[in-house]
Formats: sequence, C-alpha cells, structure tokens
Amino acid sequence: MRVGILTGGGDCPGLNAVIRAVARRSFTRGHEVVGIRAGWRGLVESLIEPLGPREITGILPRGGTILGTSRTNPYRVDEGVERVLHNFEQAGLEALVAIGGEDTLGVAARLNREHGLPVVGVPKTIDNDLSATDYTFGFDTAVFIATEAIDRLHTTAESHNRVMVVEVMGRQTGWIAVMSGIAGGADVILIPEQPMTIEDACTELRRRHERGKDFSIVVVSEGYELGAEDEGEVELDEFGHPRLSARGVGDRVARAIEDQTGYETRVTVLGHVQRGGTPTPRDRVLATRYGLKAADLVEEGHFGRMAALQGDSIVDVSLEEATAELKRVPEEWYAVASAFFG
Ligand code: F6P
Repeated sequence: MRVGILTGGGDCPGLNAVIRAVARRSFTRGHEVVGIRAGWRGLVESLIEPLGPREITGILPRGGTILGTSRTNPYRVDEGVERVLHNFEQAGLEALVAIGGEDTLGVAARLNREHGLPVVGVPKTIDNDLSATDYTFGFDTAVFIATEAIDRLHTTAESHNRVMVVEVMGRQTGWIAVMSGIAGGADVILIPEQPMTIEDACTELRRRHERGKDFSIVVVSEGYELGAEDEGEVELDEFGHPRLSARGVGDRVARAIEDQTGYETRVTVLGHVQRGGTPTPRDRVLATRYGLKAADLVEEGHFGRMAALQGDSIVDVSLEEATAELKRVPEEWYAVASAFFG
C-alpha cells in the first residue's frame, strides 16, 4: 500500500513523532510512505515526496514538522477539491493520514463524507479544543512553556510590586490559560468561556493587595472578550478564523487594570514561543501512540476515523464527531483555578 502523510494548520511539538510512528509501523507492514508537503496545499499542488527510513531518522525530539504546513483550505481554492482528488489518485495513494486540528480534520471529514477519500486523522493542536479526545498532542508542551514563563514572571512581579499580565494562545478556548494558570499559581485567569469581567478581576486584585500581597499574576487567553469596545477590522484566515494575536487583548487588559486599580501593570505576550521547540516526554509518548493507532486504522481500512485519547486508552472516534464542535473548558476546571483567585 502507498500511504500519504500530511500536517496542516499551525505547527506544534510532536508532529514529527507522529510522522515517525506512522512511517515506522507502515514500513514494518511492507507499505511505502510518502510525505505531502504544506498541508492540504500539498495535495492541491501535488507537492509529494518520498518518506523513507532516512527521512525520519532522528526526528522524534524535533519540534515543528519536517513536512511543512499551511492553513490552505481546498474548499476555498479554485477547483481545490477536484485537484486534491486528482493528485491523490495520480500519486497512487491508497490511504492518507491527516495530522491536524479542527480545520485540517474538518476538511478530512468532509472529503471522506462527500468523496470517500480514504483518510484517517490524528488530533494535533496546542489549543486542546478538539472534541472526542481528552487531550491533543502539543498541548502539554505549550502548558509547560507557559507555566515556566509564569514562574519567571512571578519573581520580577514580586521585586517591582507589579501586576503582570500574561497573554497565552488557545483561540476560542481557555485550555492553555487555565492549565498553566493553575500550575503557575495565577491570581486571576480570564478565558473566553467564563464571563469574568475586568471589573471582577480588579476586585480580586484589590482583595489580594488588602491581604498584603502587592504583586499579582493575571493570565489571559487570546480569545477573551473584553466587552463592547470596538475592535475594528480583524484579519481572517482561510477557515474564517480571526487572527487573535492582532487583537492585543493582553495589552488592553493590562491598561484597563492599571487604569482601574492604579497598580503598575506590565504585559507579556507569549505568542509562538508556545508552539516552538522540542515536545515534552508526555507529548512524545502521546504523539507516538496516536501515530501507531493511525497506521492501524489504515491497515484495517477504518477510514473517516480519528485516533483519540479516552482515559488512558487510545481509541478511535469518527472524524465528524471530533470536528462537530469545539471542546470548551468546563466549569469544574475553572473552579479549580478560581479557588486560588485574589
Ligand atoms: O491553533 C494554534 C494557534 O497557535 C492558536 O492558538 C493561535 O490563535 C493561532 O494558532 C495562531 O496562528 P498563526 O500561526 O497563523 O499566527
């Protein structure tokens, strides 16, 4: 069998570990593996290259993706879907492993449903916002990086008696903010799922100062809504998502806190550093298990499915189910975080 692998959407630590696992298990079974460059764009433009044992050597600990990635949506490209199907057939492919988040896997689900494309999915994203899986790979590394940053900001906040606002990624969900905030001991966490206002946040900070603590850490997720304030035009990607980093939510939260409390406030935007570098051991292990499962799904001809983590088991779920809606931070997780506010 000839198996193709593509990585789409934002890169994240662990992509190469999945590629390695899919390839190694496929080689064992006597299959040929090819890499499709730059996500779905690689199938639209036929950017296909061999992926043999030499290409995958030493990639387990490497961040990013050796295949490159893009946010190309074939449904938004002229004759994009026809070209994907044509190039897939021309390349002699019999199966495709798509490693991606909501957008990449949403396209995979649709191509499978509408055209019977033999594709299986692997859940990737630092945002952890995919349904039907407890965790996506890449998330643990992002939380580790954000927690380390919060730890470092604590010491400088304390020295200067300042409020430090840390803006983290996460798109429309607050998973990174909540988990790194719990791990780093944040005094307030602002996420899109929770209605906590800046006024509420300032009340918590004042309460903390009244207790004699004259520095604070506020973690804000990039998708947090500040309220009625007009944000103007925000650039959209090919999947219609706004570029959230351009909203400058951390900066706006910091200014509002300083104005309302009078406490000197600084902001740190962690940005793409959360996606860079080597994956944590946990992400390497999860990515490896996902990769093996994806290769097994290909072997069994279980297309339209996605490898998923449920409890401690790797299972498979339908791509449709995984991409139907975003997995948001539930109330009980926020309650763990908010027990330490103020
Ligand atoms: O989905 C991963 C993610 O890092 C989001 O957290 C963030 O909003 C977005 O990608 C940033 O995208 P880009 O790399 O295109 O700036």
